[in-house]
Amino acid sequence: MSDRFTVLVTGGAGYIGSHAVLALHDAGWPVAVIDNLVTGFRWAVPDDVPFYEGNIADAALIAKIVTEQNIGAVMHFAGSVVVPESVENPLKYYDNNSARSRSLIEAVIANKVPHFIFSSTAATYGIPEVSPVREDTPQVPINPYGMSKLMTEHMLRDVSAAHDMNFCALRYFNVAGADPQARSGQSTIGATHLLKVAVEAALGKRDSVAIFGTDYDTADGTGVRDYIHVSDLAAAHVLALDALIADPTQSHFLNCGYGRGFSVLEVLDAVDRVTNLKINRKMEGRRAGDPDSLISDNGAIMDRFPWKPQYADLDQIVTHALAWERKLGDIQQEQSA
Ligand code: UD1
Repeated sequence: MSDRFTVLVTGGAGYIGSHAVLALHDAGWPVAVIDNLVTGFRWAVPDDVPFYEGNIADAALIAKIVTEQNIGAVMHFAGSVVVPESVENPLKYYDNNSARSRSLIEAVIANKVPHFIFSSTAATYGIPEVSPVREDTPQVPINPYGMSKLMTEHMLRDVSAAHDMNFCALRYFNVAGADPQARSGQSTIGATHLLKVAVEAALGKRDSVAIFGTDYDTADGTGVRDYIHVSDLAAAHVLALDALIADPTQSHFLNCGYGRGFSVLEVLDAVDRVTNLKINRKMEGRRAGDPDSLISDNGAIMDRFPWKPQYADLDQIVTHALAWERKLGDIQQEQSA
């Protein structure tokens, strides 16, 4: 890498942001974090990383961090991510994900930060007509969460055309697993993600796992998703940074997934296999808004970046998620002691 500026990670105390901090750190990048600690945890950020507790829409604070830390790129993870909550409270999502992103982008432009990497989502596609989903598949979100992220994609496209800033919007499929060294992992209280729920059940933190729908148009009738290991996803962000620096005239919208899917039953089978247990399964009806199958076409990211996924094996994803869930129990005990 040519420059040695610092990368500002918003939401760096959260699930994906904390893994991006580790990936940047491991790649030798100086990093700073801003997080409001509403859903993130201070302990998720390494002690030697400068940490600012605050709001990403606070223009004066962003200006101060850019100057103090010599910020040359922003990786923006801060936001709200719970789809059903976005349906009940859309204005929270349009505030946290769209309006505050707008303020952050304004501060980035005002302070002449040249590169921006954005945490987008497959939820911007809604229920896609085709699978695998390509980047040019029409984006028709079916919930405020997806729409709030799509609005930020549009802002970035327009702002980069008008100002000296390029960007990469990465559209994540189903993020799962944890840092292979168990330095971070999914720690959200009350998380609803399938694998998180399943490892909690395996460790006796829940009685059972609900299977939402067994009549989908898939091989075994349960929903199919493209589960991507959070550390492979974090690695893609570091490569995105390299690409933005290498060609400041180029911006990117890229899917992040492995291009293959597993059903709910296959995920639960993997948890049973790895733990040597049989977690209780409860067949339930479909959850509103769930597509049958959501798999990425990852041809574009594979072409543009030298991205070599290392943890696509489902059992490995489960193993890492499980190791983290065990460690999280210890951390939570320490914190409450
Ligand atoms: C997740 C993301 C969403 C992203 C999408 C991309 C979150 C909260 N959601 O949604 O932002 O756009 O991936 O693919 O991060 N299931 C069960 N039982 C459970 C939980 C889930 O059967 O207890 C099923 C669901 O019906 C679905 C699959 O498991 O078929 C995955 O669900 P979940 O982990 O909640 O993620 P998505 O809804 O796919």
